[in-house]
Amino acid sequence: MEFNIALLKGDGIGPEIVDGAVKVLEKTADKFGHKFSFTPYLIGGCAINKTGVPLPQSTIDGCLASDSVLLGAVGGPEWDELPGYKRPEKALLGIRSALGLYTNLRPAKLYPALRAASPLKDEIVGSGFDIMIVRELTGGIYFGDRGYREGRYGQEAYDTEAYSVTEIERIGKAAFEAAMKRSRRLCSIDKANVLESSRLWRKTMHSLAGKYPAVEYTDMFVDNAAMQLIRDPGQFDVIVTSNMFGDILSDEASQITGSIGMLASASLGETTRGMYEPIHGSAPDIAGKNIANPIATILSGAMMLRYSFGLSAEADAIENAVDKVLAAGYRTADIMGSSEGTPLGCTEMTEKIAEAL
Ligand code: IPM
Ligand code: MG
Repeated sequence: MEFNIALLKGDGIGPEIVDGAVKVLEKTADKFGHKFSFTPYLIGGCAINKTGVPLPQSTIDGCLASDSVLLGAVGGPEWDELPGYKRPEKALLGIRSALGLYTNLRPAKLYPALRAASPLKDEIVGSGFDIMIVRELTGGIYFGDRGYREGRYGQEAYDTEAYSVTEIERIGKAAFEAAMKRSRRLCSIDKANVLESSRLWRKTMHSLAGKYPAVEYTDMFVDNAAMQLIRDPGQFDVIVTSNMFGDILSDEASQITGSIGMLASASLGETTRGMYEPIHGSAPDIAGKNIANPIATILSGAMMLRYSFGLSAEADAIENAVDKVLAAGYRTADIMGSSEGTPLGCTEMTEKIAEAL
């Protein structure tokens, strides 16, 4: 089969990790007799430097014309002082919205080979955990009305959280479907004891739950969820939550795996075109030094094959190659822990995984 993939390499370590994923995707295409073509487009700080805006229209058009999108990371200290609407991060929100990608799947699982890197004690981790966070990605406070106004104490800034039944239903449906494919447990996380938008969220989720009787459904308040993730992560299977709560909880969940450099994500909408990116950021401090871990981006490529192209044997092959390389003891610096030996660079780790395919 033939697919066109848009590459949004972005800033910092973005280019090196995307190059790694491309190498592995090309090897996979060779092995299984497919043809992937790659077209790069600008996004984030590099787009600001070349065109004056973080998300040029040509990037949106290029992504819309592609079968799927692979993203590295955006942002860096060079652009930190820019006003909100011009920042690299704005491009990320913009492209998610322009492509209609309202469902964000963020798996956080503990890799047995990397157990020692998790900050949690053995008695808490038990036999491990494998959580799928389903984050709403194009609504809520990150997209709500904002600005400045005269308040009780003088001028104030405000942002607004708003969710419609339509937005809650479509993300809820995606989460129930995800739960049906896993262990059929879904926990919806909100702040319904305080927020009106959360009360509508909870009510809408409850009516959906009635349509998925096979799924064991629970609700949890977000503050308690933040605590439960550390106290007993194994209790969770699929989590569904709003844009902001999902942003925060997915960072927490990735940290307890001890290997944020390993975690991939998928952003999906109504079509098969998705955007796939590592959970970690642009790590400007290590950019261009060939020490970044390409695995999260390589695994994002695997998710693309599975979710956008329906190539699950190919996706499995990449995931197995990563497992094999880790089991053989190869590590990049970030997942080295106290293991012996010299860490591999980004290109060497990429080579090892491509060889293991
Ligand atoms: C993420 C990031 C982004 C977000 C930022 C960079 C805009 O934190 O993907 O989690 O908040 O969605
Ligand atoms: Mg985040």
